[in-house]
Amino acid sequence: MAPCQSLSQWQKQAQHKLSLVSPTADIEARLCLCHVLKVTNTYLYSHAQRLLTDTELAALNQLVSARLTGQPLAYLFGYWHFYDLKLQVNPSTLIPRADTELLVEQALSLPLPEQARVLDLGTGTGAIALALAVNRPLWQLTAVDYIAGAVALAEQNRQQLNIPNVAVVQSNWFDAINGQRFDLIVSNPPYIDPSDSHLSALRFEPITALTASQHGLADLRHIIEQAPAHLTTGGWLYLEHGYDQAEAVRGLLTAAGFNQVQSQRDYGNNWRITGGCLAL
Ligand SMILES: C[S@@+](CC[C@H](N)C(=O)[O-])C[C@H]1O[C@@H](n2cnc3c(N)ncnc32)[C@H](O)[C@@H]1O
Repeated sequence: MAPCQSLSQWQKQAQHKLSLVSPTADIEARLCLCHVLKVTNTYLYSHAQRLLTDTELAALNQLVSARLTGQPLAYLFGYWHFYDLKLQVNPSTLIPRADTELLVEQALSLPLPEQARVLDLGTGTGAIALALAVNRPLWQLTAVDYIAGAVALAEQNRQQLNIPNVAVVQSNWFDAINGQRFDLIVSNPPYIDPSDSHLSALRFEPITALTASQHGLADLRHIIEQAPAHLTTGGWLYLEHGYDQAEAVRGLLTAAGFNQVQSQRDYGNNWRITGGCLAL
Protein backbone atom coordinates (compact mmCIF):
# COMPACT_ATOMS: atom_id res chain seq x y z
CA MET A 1 0.00 0.00 0.00
CA ALA A 2 1.39 3.44 -0.93
CA PRO A 3 2.09 5.70 2.05
CA CYS A 4 -0.76 8.06 2.79
CA GLN A 5 -1.23 10.83 5.24
CA SER A 6 -4.52 11.02 7.05
CA LEU A 7 -6.58 8.44 8.94
CA SER A 8 -9.44 8.71 6.47
CA GLN A 9 -7.15 8.31 3.45
CA TRP A 10 -5.53 5.20 4.94
CA GLN A 11 -8.92 3.80 5.92
CA LYS A 12 -10.25 4.16 2.39
CA GLN A 13 -7.23 2.43 0.84
CA ALA A 14 -7.20 -0.35 3.46
CA GLN A 15 -10.91 -0.97 3.03
CA HIS A 16 -10.40 -1.43 -0.70
CA LYS A 17 -7.59 -3.98 -0.13
CA LEU A 18 -9.36 -5.84 2.68
CA SER A 19 -12.49 -6.30 0.57
CA LEU A 20 -10.52 -9.07 -1.20
CA VAL A 21 -10.69 -11.22 1.96
CA SER A 22 -13.51 -9.79 4.04
CA PRO A 23 -17.17 -8.92 3.51
CA THR A 24 -16.82 -6.43 6.38
CA ALA A 25 -13.70 -4.65 5.12
CA ASP A 26 -14.96 -1.25 6.33
CA ILE A 27 -15.22 -2.50 9.91
CA GLU A 28 -11.88 -4.31 9.70
CA ALA A 29 -10.07 -1.17 8.47
CA ARG A 30 -11.49 0.76 11.41
CA LEU A 31 -10.53 -2.01 13.85
CA CYS A 32 -6.94 -1.89 12.54
CA LEU A 33 -6.80 1.86 13.15
CA CYS A 34 -8.28 1.53 16.65
CA HIS A 35 -5.81 -1.26 17.48
CA VAL A 36 -2.64 0.45 16.23
CA LEU A 37 -3.51 3.97 17.42
CA LYS A 38 -5.06 2.64 20.67
CA VAL A 39 -8.12 4.85 20.18
CA THR A 40 -11.88 4.36 20.05
CA ASN A 41 -14.06 4.25 16.96
CA THR A 42 -15.42 7.68 17.87
CA TYR A 43 -11.89 9.10 17.72
CA LEU A 44 -11.62 8.00 14.09
CA TYR A 45 -14.60 10.20 13.21
CA SER A 46 -13.41 13.22 15.16
CA HIS A 47 -9.79 12.96 13.92
CA ALA A 48 -10.34 11.82 10.33
CA GLN A 49 -7.78 14.35 9.03
CA ARG A 50 -5.14 13.52 11.67
CA LEU A 51 -1.83 12.59 10.01
CA LEU A 52 -0.36 9.14 10.59
CA THR A 53 3.27 8.86 11.67
CA ASP A 54 5.67 6.63 9.74
CA THR A 55 5.67 4.13 12.60
CA GLU A 56 1.88 3.97 12.66
CA LEU A 57 1.76 3.59 8.88
CA ALA A 58 4.27 0.74 8.95
CA ALA A 59 2.31 -1.09 11.68
CA LEU A 60 -1.01 -0.58 9.90
CA ASN A 61 0.31 -1.75 6.55
CA GLN A 62 1.92 -4.80 8.14
CA LEU A 63 -1.46 -5.72 9.67
CA VAL A 64 -3.22 -5.42 6.33
CA SER A 65 -0.55 -7.53 4.59
CA ALA A 66 -0.97 -10.28 7.21
CA ARG A 67 -4.75 -10.08 6.98
CA LEU A 68 -4.55 -10.48 3.19
CA THR A 69 -2.98 -13.93 3.75
CA GLY A 70 -6.27 -14.89 5.43
CA GLN A 71 -5.18 -14.68 9.08
CA PRO A 72 -8.09 -13.51 11.25
CA LEU A 73 -7.71 -10.05 12.76
CA ALA A 74 -8.36 -11.50 16.21
CA TYR A 75 -5.20 -13.63 16.04
CA LEU A 76 -3.21 -10.68 14.66
CA PHE A 77 -4.42 -8.44 17.51
CA GLY A 78 -4.15 -11.22 20.14
CA TYR A 79 -7.56 -10.31 21.56
CA TRP A 80 -11.22 -10.09 20.59
CA HIS A 81 -14.34 -8.64 22.15
CA PHE A 82 -17.21 -10.85 23.33
CA TYR A 83 -20.21 -9.69 25.33
CA ASP A 84 -18.39 -6.55 26.55
CA LEU A 85 -15.34 -8.58 27.60
CA LYS A 86 -11.91 -8.16 26.04
CA LEU A 87 -10.62 -11.73 25.72
CA GLN A 88 -7.12 -12.89 24.84
CA VAL A 89 -7.22 -15.30 21.88
CA ASN A 90 -4.72 -17.67 20.29
CA PRO A 91 -4.75 -20.53 17.78
CA SER A 92 -5.40 -23.16 20.49
CA THR A 93 -9.12 -22.51 20.15
CA LEU A 94 -11.95 -20.74 18.37
CA ILE A 95 -12.21 -16.96 18.18
CA PRO A 96 -15.47 -16.12 20.00
CA ARG A 97 -18.27 -15.22 17.58
CA ALA A 98 -20.98 -12.59 18.03
CA ASP A 99 -23.65 -15.23 17.36
CA THR A 100 -22.59 -17.10 20.50
CA GLU A 101 -23.75 -14.09 22.53
CA LEU A 102 -27.25 -15.42 21.88
CA LEU A 103 -26.43 -18.47 24.02
CA VAL A 104 -25.31 -16.13 26.83
CA GLU A 105 -28.51 -14.06 26.50
CA GLN A 106 -30.65 -17.19 26.62
CA ALA A 107 -28.81 -18.60 29.66
CA LEU A 108 -29.25 -15.30 31.52
CA SER A 109 -32.99 -15.36 30.81
CA LEU A 110 -33.66 -18.85 32.24
CA PRO A 111 -35.49 -19.35 35.55
CA LEU A 112 -32.49 -20.51 37.58
CA PRO A 113 -31.63 -20.45 41.31
CA GLU A 114 -29.89 -17.29 42.55
CA GLN A 115 -26.76 -19.32 43.26
CA ALA A 116 -26.99 -21.58 40.21
CA ARG A 117 -24.25 -24.09 39.41
CA VAL A 118 -23.40 -23.87 35.73
CA LEU A 119 -21.15 -25.96 33.47
CA ASP A 120 -19.66 -24.64 30.18
CA LEU A 121 -18.43 -27.55 28.03
CA GLY A 122 -15.70 -26.72 25.48
CA THR A 123 -15.03 -23.30 26.96
CA GLY A 124 -12.21 -22.27 24.58
CA THR A 125 -11.23 -18.70 25.55
CA GLY A 126 -13.72 -18.99 28.43
CA ALA A 127 -16.07 -16.67 26.53
CA ILE A 128 -19.45 -18.09 27.57
CA ALA A 129 -18.52 -18.96 31.16
CA LEU A 130 -16.81 -15.61 31.82
CA ALA A 131 -19.69 -13.60 30.30
CA LEU A 132 -22.18 -15.48 32.48
CA ALA A 133 -20.02 -15.14 35.59
CA VAL A 134 -19.63 -11.38 35.20
CA ASN A 135 -23.37 -10.94 34.82
CA ARG A 136 -24.31 -13.36 37.64
CA PRO A 137 -21.68 -12.98 40.37
CA LEU A 138 -23.54 -15.42 42.65
CA TRP A 139 -23.47 -18.26 40.13
CA GLN A 140 -20.69 -20.86 40.42
CA LEU A 141 -19.34 -21.83 37.02
CA THR A 142 -17.17 -24.69 35.89
CA ALA A 143 -15.55 -24.22 32.47
CA VAL A 144 -13.96 -27.25 30.79
CA ASP A 145 -11.93 -27.87 27.67
CA TYR A 146 -9.80 -30.83 26.73
CA ILE A 147 -7.10 -28.86 24.89
CA ALA A 148 -4.41 -27.79 27.38
CA GLY A 149 -3.73 -24.54 25.48
CA ALA A 150 -7.40 -23.57 25.66
CA VAL A 151 -7.57 -24.37 29.39
CA ALA A 152 -4.52 -22.13 29.98
CA LEU A 153 -6.06 -19.38 27.84
CA ALA A 154 -9.43 -19.49 29.64
CA GLU A 155 -7.63 -19.36 33.00
CA GLN A 156 -5.50 -16.43 31.77
CA ASN A 157 -8.66 -14.56 30.74
CA ARG A 158 -10.32 -15.37 34.06
CA GLN A 159 -7.36 -13.96 35.98
CA GLN A 160 -6.93 -10.86 33.79
CA LEU A 161 -10.62 -10.03 34.13
CA ASN A 162 -10.50 -10.84 37.86
CA ILE A 163 -13.53 -13.13 37.78
CA PRO A 164 -13.62 -15.27 40.94
CA ASN A 165 -16.70 -17.45 40.34
CA VAL A 166 -15.32 -19.62 37.51
CA ALA A 167 -13.21 -22.78 37.89
CA VAL A 168 -11.37 -23.79 34.71
CA VAL A 169 -10.78 -27.54 34.40
CA GLN A 170 -9.16 -29.74 31.76
CA SER A 171 -11.64 -32.46 30.87
CA ASN A 172 -12.83 -34.59 27.98
CA TRP A 173 -16.48 -33.42 28.16
CA PHE A 174 -17.84 -34.76 31.50
CA ASP A 175 -14.91 -37.08 32.35
CA ALA A 176 -13.39 -34.90 35.12
CA ILE A 177 -16.72 -33.70 36.49
CA ASN A 178 -17.05 -36.67 38.86
CA GLY A 179 -20.78 -36.97 39.48
CA GLN A 180 -21.39 -33.25 40.11
CA ARG A 181 -24.80 -31.89 39.13
CA PHE A 182 -25.56 -28.50 37.60
CA ASP A 183 -28.63 -26.29 37.22
CA LEU A 184 -27.52 -25.34 33.71
CA ILE A 185 -25.15 -26.83 31.15
CA VAL A 186 -24.18 -24.71 28.14
CA SER A 187 -21.96 -25.67 25.24
CA ASN A 188 -20.80 -24.46 21.87
CA PRO A 189 -19.13 -27.72 20.81
CA PRO A 190 -17.47 -28.56 17.47
CA TYR A 191 -20.36 -29.13 15.05
CA ILE A 192 -19.08 -28.76 11.49
CA ASP A 193 -19.15 -31.77 9.18
CA PRO A 194 -15.49 -32.62 8.31
CA SER A 195 -16.42 -32.52 4.60
CA ASP A 196 -18.10 -29.08 4.81
CA SER A 197 -16.75 -26.71 2.13
CA HIS A 198 -16.91 -23.73 4.56
CA LEU A 199 -13.98 -25.22 6.53
CA SER A 200 -11.37 -23.78 4.16
CA ALA A 201 -12.39 -20.27 5.27
CA LEU A 202 -11.64 -21.30 8.87
CA ARG A 203 -8.20 -22.78 8.20
CA PHE A 204 -6.42 -20.68 10.85
CA GLU A 205 -8.59 -22.00 13.68
CA PRO A 206 -7.89 -25.49 15.11
CA ILE A 207 -9.80 -28.43 13.74
CA THR A 208 -10.29 -29.61 17.36
CA ALA A 209 -12.63 -26.65 17.88
CA LEU A 210 -14.52 -27.01 14.62
CA THR A 211 -15.40 -30.48 13.38
CA ALA A 212 -17.28 -33.49 14.67
CA SER A 213 -18.09 -36.80 13.00
CA GLN A 214 -21.62 -38.03 12.22
CA HIS A 215 -22.27 -34.98 9.97
CA GLY A 216 -21.14 -32.69 12.79
CA LEU A 217 -23.51 -34.18 15.35
CA ALA A 218 -21.22 -36.55 17.31
CA ASP A 219 -20.26 -34.12 20.10
CA LEU A 220 -23.76 -32.62 20.33
CA ARG A 221 -25.18 -36.16 20.64
CA HIS A 222 -22.62 -37.16 23.30
CA ILE A 223 -23.31 -34.04 25.40
CA ILE A 224 -27.09 -34.44 25.15
CA GLU A 225 -26.97 -38.13 26.08
CA GLN A 226 -24.62 -37.58 29.04
CA ALA A 227 -26.17 -34.34 30.34
CA PRO A 228 -29.11 -35.84 32.32
CA ALA A 229 -26.66 -37.58 34.69
CA HIS A 230 -25.07 -34.16 35.41
CA LEU A 231 -28.18 -31.99 35.74
CA THR A 232 -30.40 -31.28 38.72
CA THR A 233 -34.08 -32.17 38.25
CA GLY A 234 -35.55 -29.29 36.27
CA GLY A 235 -32.04 -28.29 35.10
CA TRP A 236 -31.45 -26.81 31.65
CA LEU A 237 -29.21 -27.70 28.71
CA TYR A 238 -28.60 -25.13 25.97
CA LEU A 239 -26.43 -25.78 22.91
CA GLU A 240 -25.11 -23.85 19.94
CA HIS A 241 -25.23 -25.80 16.66
CA GLY A 242 -25.03 -25.49 12.88
CA TYR A 243 -27.70 -23.64 10.89
CA ASP A 244 -29.13 -26.95 9.60
CA GLN A 245 -28.90 -28.99 12.83
CA ALA A 246 -31.76 -27.53 14.90
CA GLU A 247 -34.26 -30.26 14.05
CA ALA A 248 -31.76 -33.05 14.79
CA VAL A 249 -30.77 -31.43 18.10
CA ARG A 250 -34.42 -31.01 19.13
CA GLY A 251 -34.96 -34.70 18.38
CA LEU A 252 -31.94 -35.73 20.44
CA LEU A 253 -33.04 -33.57 23.38
CA THR A 254 -36.56 -34.96 23.33
CA ALA A 255 -35.25 -38.54 23.13
CA ALA A 256 -33.00 -37.85 26.15
CA GLY A 257 -36.00 -36.78 28.27
CA PHE A 258 -35.89 -32.97 27.94
CA ASN A 259 -39.03 -30.89 27.66
CA GLN A 260 -39.71 -27.24 26.76
CA VAL A 261 -37.38 -27.97 23.84
CA GLN A 262 -37.00 -24.97 21.56
CA SER A 263 -34.63 -23.38 19.05
CA GLN A 264 -33.75 -19.75 18.41
CA ARG A 265 -32.36 -17.86 15.44
CA ASP A 266 -29.09 -15.90 15.47
CA TYR A 267 -28.45 -12.35 14.19
CA GLY A 268 -28.13 -13.77 10.65
CA ASN A 269 -31.59 -15.39 10.96
CA ASN A 270 -30.15 -18.93 11.11
CA TRP A 271 -31.41 -21.44 13.70
CA ARG A 272 -28.40 -21.35 16.01
CA ILE A 273 -29.23 -22.50 19.56
CA THR A 274 -31.50 -25.18 20.96
CA GLY A 275 -32.18 -26.21 24.53
CA GLY A 276 -34.59 -27.75 26.96
CA CYS A 277 -35.37 -28.49 30.57
CA LEU A 278 -34.81 -31.90 32.12
CA ALA A 279 -38.29 -33.27 32.70
CA LEU A 280 -39.54 -33.03 36.29
C1 LIG B 1 -16.55 -24.28 18.86
S1 LIG B 1 -15.29 -24.14 20.09
C2 LIG B 1 -16.14 -23.12 21.28
C3 LIG B 1 -15.24 -22.31 22.17
C4 LIG B 1 -16.01 -21.32 23.07
N1 LIG B 1 -16.93 -22.00 23.94
C5 LIG B 1 -16.74 -20.30 22.24
O1 LIG B 1 -17.97 -20.36 22.15
O2 LIG B 1 -16.08 -19.40 21.67
C6 LIG B 1 -15.35 -25.76 20.79
C7 LIG B 1 -14.42 -25.99 21.96
O3 LIG B 1 -14.64 -27.34 22.42
C8 LIG B 1 -13.40 -27.91 22.79
N2 LIG B 1 -13.53 -29.36 22.75
C9 LIG B 1 -13.53 -30.17 21.66
N3 LIG B 1 -13.65 -31.47 22.02
C10 LIG B 1 -13.75 -31.47 23.38
C11 LIG B 1 -13.88 -32.50 24.34
N4 LIG B 1 -13.92 -33.80 23.97
N5 LIG B 1 -13.97 -32.17 25.64
C12 LIG B 1 -13.91 -30.85 26.01
N6 LIG B 1 -13.76 -29.82 25.14
C13 LIG B 1 -13.68 -30.13 23.84
C14 LIG B 1 -12.40 -27.34 21.78
O4 LIG B 1 -11.09 -27.42 22.24
C15 LIG B 1 -12.93 -25.89 21.64
O5 LIG B 1 -12.29 -25.03 22.56
